[in-house]
Amino acid sequence: MAVSFFLTVNGHRHEVTAAADTPLLTVLRNDLGLNGPKYGCGLGECGACTVLLDGRAARSCVMRVDTASRYAITTLEGLALDGPDPVQQAFVTAQAAQCGYCLNGMVMTLRAFLNTTPNPDERALKEALRYNLCRCGTHVEIMRAARIAAG
Ligand code: FES
Repeated sequence: MAVSFFLTVNGHRHEVTAAADTPLLTVLRNDLGLNGPKYGCGLGECGACTVLLDGRAARSCVMRVDTASRYAITTLEGLALDGPDPVQQAFVTAQAAQCGYCLNGMVMTLRAFLNTTPNPDERALKEALRYNLCRCGTHVEIMRAARIAAG
């Protein structure tokens, strides 16, 4: 049964109508037109759908919309409201995309990590991105971007 929820996304409040167990990713993409988060596996395993909930990384394909309505949601689009976030700029500088499908998850996961861990070393960066999959195998460039973003 569809019910109404208020979602705070990128600083704006939206009323959406959906079944309570609808994945947040579906609402973001289909109802709000925010296509930064990607549908990859739909199982919480690849990271392509990552968003921030109160600044922490979350996989929106396995996050119910009713649960998500309790948090401030930030999507890739929300990072760039005042120009590119330094993490986004780092990925451009490093030319870290091949197909680019995974990059939403890489950027959002790294943003959340750097929010709580300034100046991480190489090992910590690798650990932070360990559960984000890139099927193109662009890991060398992605790690270069991560080092630039980490300063
Ligand atoms: Fe959500 Fe893969 S699409 S983790």
